[in-house]
Amino acid sequence: MPFSADAVRSAFPALDEGAAHFDAPGGSLVPAIVADAVRDALASAINQRGTFTIADCRTLEIVRQARLAMAELVGGDPRGVIFGRSMTQLTFDVSRALAKTWEPGDEIVVSRLDHDANIRPWLYAAESVGAHVRWIEFDSATSELTVADVEAQLTDRTRLVAVTAASNLVGTRPPVKQIAEKVHGLGALLYVDGVHYTAHAFVDIGEMGADFFACSPYKFCGPHCGALVASPVLLETLEPDKLLPSANSVPERFELGTPAFELMAGTTAAVDFLAGLSGSVESSRRERLRSSFAAMGEYEDGLRREIEAGLADHTKITVYSRARLRTPTLLFTVDGIESAEVSARLGELNINAPASNFYALEASRHLGLGDAGGVRVGLAPYSSARDVDRLLEGLGSII
Ligand SMILES: Cc1ncc(COP(=O)(O)O)c(C=O)c1O
Repeated sequence: MPFSADAVRSAFPALDEGAAHFDAPGGSLVPAIVADAVRDALASAINQRGTFTIADCRTLEIVRQARLAMAELVGGDPRGVIFGRSMTQLTFDVSRALAKTWEPGDEIVVSRLDHDANIRPWLYAAESVGAHVRWIEFDSATSELTVADVEAQLTDRTRLVAVTAASNLVGTRPPVKQIAEKVHGLGALLYVDGVHYTAHAFVDIGEMGADFFACSPYKFCGPHCGALVASPVLLETLEPDKLLPSANSVPERFELGTPAFELMAGTTAAVDFLAGLSGSVESSRRERLRSSFAAMGEYEDGLRREIEAGLADHTKITVYSRARLRTPTLLFTVDGIESAEVSARLGELNINAPASNFYALEASRHLGLGDAGGVRVGLAPYSSARDVDRLLEGLGSII
C-alpha cells in the first residue's frame, strides 16, 4: 500500500478544526483509532494485572501488547520496555538508579545539543555521587555534532554518555552508531534521547548501539506518556528505589505505582497506525513500520524542502537547521521581529508554529538565541502541501 497524505489526514479528527499544524515536535495530533483505544480501555473493565477475572486478564494483555508494540517500534525486547509518565520522569528515575553504580571521580558526558531532559537528570545524578560532568559541544555554524566532538570528552573514567538521536530544536541527527562504538570501546553506556527521532525515522536500537533508548508516544501520534527501552539483562543490573511489596521483576520494578493502562492501549494503537501507513499487509508489523517510515520520511522531506525554498526568498529570515542529516524540523528567526511575535501573528492566521527554546536551552544559548529561541516549524505525516502554502503566505504577510 503506498503512502497517501489524504488518507492519513482523514484519520485525524483534530484537523477538522482547520489549523495548519507545524507544532508536532511539541506533541502530535492523534488519529481517531488512538483516541478510541484509550477510550475503549477506560470504558471496559480493567483493574490490576492478574489471571483470574476478565478485568485482570484484560489489563495484563494491554500491558503485554504495549510492551510488544514498543519493542517492535524500536527493535528492542518487550521485557526491556518500561512505561512511565514522560521521558523526563523515566530519565530522572534511571539516572538515579545508574548513579548507585558510579563512584566519585567517574565521568558522565552530556551534550550541548540536547533537550534539557537528557542533561539535567544526569547533572543531578552525577552531583549526588561526586562524579564529574563533561560537555560535548556542537558547531553553532553548522548545527553538527560529530563523533570527534564526542571523542574529545571521553576518558577511561567515562561511565555514561547521554546524547540525542535528533535535536528537537534544529533537527540535527548526530551519528549515534559511530558514537556508540567509541562509547562502548571504553566500556561505558550510551543513553539515547529518541523522543524527536522516533517520530521521523525507523529505529533499530541494536544497530544504533543505544544501551537505553527513551521516547514519548505523544510525539508519534500516541497518547501522553513515555517509554524507555533497554536490554532486560542490563536492567537486571540496576536497583531503582521502589516500594517493598511491588514487583521486583524487570521491567516492572522500574514502573512505580499503577501504570496508565489506557495510555499503554493508546500506544499500541499508535504503533499499529504508523505500521499501517505503507507497506504490504502480509508483512510483519516491524517490516511495515520500516516501509512506513521510509515513505513518511520521503514525504516529510519533500515538504521540508519546499519550506526551505520559501524561507530562502526572505533575506530577513535566518534558518538554524543546517546539519547534513536532520529531521523535517526547522528553526528560524526573523530580523527585527521577536520570534514570539512572529508565532503570535501566525497563530492569528490559524497557523500553529510556536516560538521558544523548546527546553533545548543549552542549544538555544549556544546558537546565540538566548532563552527566547526561535520559531519552529515541524512536519508530521498529516502535514500537507496546502499547510506549507499557508505558512509561506502567512510569513510573507508578516515580514
Ligand atoms: C528531544 C526531546 N527530548 C525529551 C523531551 C521530553 O519528553 P517528555 O515530555 O516525554 O518528558 C522532549 C519533549 O519535547 C523532546 O523533544
